[in-house]
Amino acid sequence: MTPAVLKDSYGRAIRDLRVSLTDRCNFRCFYCLPHGEPPIAPKEQMLSYEEIEYVSDIFVSLGIEKIRLTGGEPMMRRDIETIIGKLAALKPRLHDLALTTNGYFLPGRAAALKEAGLDRITISLDSLRPETFRRMTGVDVLARVLEGIAAARDAGLAPIKINAVIVRGHNDAEVADFARFAREHAVSMRFIEFMPLDSGHEWSRDDVVSGREIRAAIEERFALAPLPVRRGAETSARYRFADGAPGEIGIIAPVTEAFCGACSRIRLTADGQIRTCLFSTVEHSLRDVIRRSGATRSETVEYIESVVLKKEPRHYINDPDFLQPARTMSFIGG
Ligand code: GTP
Ligand code: 5AD
Ligand code: SF4
Repeated sequence: MTPAVLKDSYGRAIRDLRVSLTDRCNFRCFYCLPHGEPPIAPKEQMLSYEEIEYVSDIFVSLGIEKIRLTGGEPMMRRDIETIIGKLAALKPRLHDLALTTNGYFLPGRAAALKEAGLDRITISLDSLRPETFRRMTGVDVLARVLEGIAAARDAGLAPIKINAVIVRGHNDAEVADFARFAREHAVSMRFIEFMPLDSGHEWSRDDVVSGREIRAAIEERFALAPLPVRRGAETSARYRFADGAPGEIGIIAPVTEAFCGACSRIRLTADGQIRTCLFSTVEHSLRDVIRRSGATRSETVEYIESVVLKKEPRHYINDPDFLQPARTMSFIGG
């Protein structure tokens, strides 16, 4: 492990950078972007690939070990292989380069991502039933996303993780079916509690299916055995199947079992703003710092260090005066 240079004011080491490549998305998941895209930032406000490469190199020199590319839908950004290639060149100082995608563009393109240097991939899949999939994502493309998952496997982008946000009355009856999918396809199936990050502001506590309920629903069909924690900062509680079947289960419970105390994450939006928490209500313009004429690398380093010190201790979803952040998941990237 490289020494952690980036530490926040609570002593948490910052090891993971999540970079959003675009705010655009071709899906309309109701838990994220139900009413379509808000006005998209003008192109000149977006970080160029050269700028992303430049700041990522700085972040890696400060101890960042893992970079995850997100969106919106990151594969909507042109030539995503180019930025993957540039970031892959930061290895081995960078240990892990991952991508979160809705999977739509993977058929025919997964192999190119792997060749460019991507290590692994996470694909969103909220239902195994075509009608529920359409209702939850706004698009009728379940078969295509399943093809995308197969393409990722064929391309060698293992271990594949599948994300499902579980929402009461929508896909909560499918939890055990998803577990079966994990076994049959040898993937890590992650169940995520619904968080108040939807642009429609329709989140309600009653819609949250707790991690505990999710685990119970799986165990009705398949016995689980906990896996040891790999790294303190991990979002999910991980399980294997007790009967030794392939596949893995991850339960991500930010609402009912917050994991903020071990958070190692920092985020960069497509328009160059640092977000120190998924629920931040303020952002810090790294773009302005690097674009200032005559800006030096050491000024950028100092700026990043000072911003990290402002990282929030935790989210406040469960506090009575909780305020939903103005930017939704389609900007922040999960
Ligand atoms: P890997 O384990 O490296 O694959 O990454 P990860 O566990 O961070 O997984 P991923 O990036 O796929 O995140 C899964 C989901 O967890 C996201 O889509 C969010 O819903 C949630 N999540 C990720 N990071 C945070 C965080 O810092 N805070 C909260 N509250 N939720 C998060
Ligand atoms: N609550 C929880 N997770 C969310 N995601 C998007 N919106 C939400 C939300 N409101 C996650 C999904 C998706 C990733 C990009 O972000 O897991 O896979
Ligand atoms: Fe759906 Fe990704 Fe776009 Fe949300 S950000 S609307 S998944 S996905």
